[in-house]
Amino acid sequence: MKIFITGGSGLLGSKIAEISLEEGYNVYSGYNKNKPEYGDPVKYDLSNPKSIINVLNEIKPDIIIHTAALTDVDKCEIERELAYKINVEGTKIIAEIARKMNSYMIYISTDYVFDGTKGMYKEEDETNPINYYGYTKLLGEKYCNDFCIVRTCVIYGAKPASGKTNFALWIINKLSNNEKIKIITDQYITPTFNTNLARMILECIDRKLRGIIHLAGATRISRYEFSLEIAKEFNLNPNLITPAKMDEIKWIARRPRDSSLDTSKARNLLKEKPYDLKKALRELRKEMEA
Ligand SMILES: NC(=O)c1ccc[n+]([C@@H]2O[C@H](COP(=O)([O-])OP(=O)(O)OC[C@H]3O[C@@H](n4cnc5c(N)ncnc54)[C@H](OP(=O)(O)O)[C@@H]3O)[C@@H](O)[C@H]2O)c1
Repeated sequence: MKIFITGGSGLLGSKIAEISLEEGYNVYSGYNKNKPEYGDPVKYDLSNPKSIINVLNEIKPDIIIHTAALTDVDKCEIERELAYKINVEGTKIIAEIARKMNSYMIYISTDYVFDGTKGMYKEEDETNPINYYGYTKLLGEKYCNDFCIVRTCVIYGAKPASGKTNFALWIINKLSNNEKIKIITDQYITPTFNTNLARMILECIDRKLRGIIHLAGATRISRYEFSLEIAKEFNLNPNLITPAKMDEIKWIARRPRDSSLDTSKARNLLKEKPYDLKKALRELRKEMEA
């Protein structure tokens, strides 16, 4: 089975590539700037339709996992044309080709399709993005509605990917260096360990699931409490963490206050269950120590 991971160098894509290789798939890892660690590297450009078409015609994948996106929320707010090209038009082209080739496709979407006023969002809840990134990801969903759409939330993992760190690693690094950090108390999320997420996605592929499914961690928590839990698990000094408020942060794009996802559909349906935070952080530590 040939599997094409559109963002094979990314935080999620690299973990899917690593695990799917172990499971015996023929793995093609798409990238643009950062060469992937796992799978056969495939350089292309999602903002260039020809490049997407060439790559897909060459690989002819049985399975496409569309993890690639312009994920920098503030950049999407400023560079709207680029965000639209990559997140909307790129997705549209991939979905059209997947249909023509009869490939099974999973589109990775986001908690940012919601406005964050309610929290613990279910799959059928009304979407209402409050920034351009969320808007483009939601439009991407519209082009994939006959495939599987996975919405996830604040992904973290043991290694930097796509040339950047992630929230949990950043906390661990800062606290390990005895640096003080400010973390917000009034933004709620369901943080997601990339290994758990990759395994749930691979199960969706095995079972050829379709429709929307929320795949995230099982614990709703504020970013501040999340950072304290990280400090506890990694035996780091929690006193270095100062509470702050969302309003104090100078973001360019607006952020939802509570974009936590309800994962009960996944819990009921999948063998690989969404991990609660304690289990996820334990597994993260094991991976980092291995
Ligand atoms: N991270 C989160 O907290 C989070 C939360 C909710 C939803 N999501 C969604 O989950 C998916 C995976 O996120 P992630 O954190 O793994 O992303 P990521 O680490 O930022 O990786 C993005 C991937 O997209 C590729 N890419 C970007 N622009 C490209 C272009 N023009 N042409 C080809 N490839 C391009 C990158 O390649 P290069 O490395 O070569 O640039 C990289 O492989 C995304 O669709 C995102 O919207 C993420």
